[in-house]
Amino acid sequence: MYHICVMPLETSQYLINNTEGSYIDCTFGGGGHTSYLLNKFEKIKIIAFDWDEDATNRFLEIKKNFNNRVVFIRDNFKNIKNALAEININKVDGILADIGVSSKQLDDLDRGFSFNSDVVDMRMDKRNALTAKEIINSYSRDDLADIFYKYGQEYKSRQIADAISLRRKRGIINTALELKDIVCSVKRPQGKVNPATKVFQALRIFVNDELANLETLLSGAPGLLNQGGRIVLISFHSLEDRIVKQDFKKNASDGKYKILTKKVITASQEEINVNPRSRSAKIRAAEKIINA
Ligand SMILES: C[S@@+](CC[C@H](N)C(=O)[O-])C[C@H]1O[C@@H](n2cnc3c(N)ncnc32)[C@H](O)[C@@H]1O
Repeated sequence: MYHICVMPLETSQYLINNTEGSYIDCTFGGGGHTSYLLNKFEKIKIIAFDWDEDATNRFLEIKKNFNNRVVFIRDNFKNIKNALAEININKVDGILADIGVSSKQLDDLDRGFSFNSDVVDMRMDKRNALTAKEIINSYSRDDLADIFYKYGQEYKSRQIADAISLRRKRGIINTALELKDIVCSVKRPQGKVNPATKVFQALRIFVNDELANLETLLSGAPGLLNQGGRIVLISFHSLEDRIVKQDFKKNASDGKYKILTKKVITASQEEINVNPRSRSAKIRAAEKIINA
């Protein structure tokens, strides 16, 4: 299984305001949301983005089901404005982004996202140069501590950075398993959560420049939406959700957006039972106001 998409019904209810419109799926992944939307609304078209080669291959598998109603662009979603201009599209009726990693990325041990991976890579787009391995083996102790604190809110960031610096004296850290063990040597387990979770999250966000990509996407979105067009963001941790919330609030106070989700939308208990990864998903949605 590539990925189970989260809250497809809720996503479609917030996203689709024109049942014959054109939409962007910024994060195609396994194509779960794209397929759901194309099946449910037979006259819409989707331009799908993802920067991961595996998503490209997945697209090739499923595109035959939808003929010319979906196209795929392998690019960072921060570049959507230019990428759309190249195919002569200026505006769309909705933008969906389901940010973070797919289950396939997490589960593939050669990608380095999970604790027992054989590598420490964490690039979602392997065309980018910077890997988590380079960071943990070459960044200064202070820079490592800052990354763990800023992107993982890791309260033991300095002690963990010290332990990594010390361990480096014995040779290169090659696997995620080794990194996890270093973190666990200074941090005890609390409940069911692995002590290395925040360090892994921080490295992943940093390697993929995730927060800056999200900010660029959000700042360009009002200019890409038709009047009445919708933006739907699904995020998985508080740093991202805060950025989305603040962006929507600012655009609402500037008269560009009407916020559709006064309270954040979360998955039902039924969905969490079937797909535990949906537990931390949060949907926020806004509509571009007519004549804004
Ligand atoms: C949670 S998965 C999306 C799953 C998808 N909605 C589905 O139903 O299968 C996130 C996807 O977004 C992609 N992604 C994350 N950041 C990206 C970016 N800045 N540009 C393009 N794709 C990105 C990842 O490669 C991953 O495939």
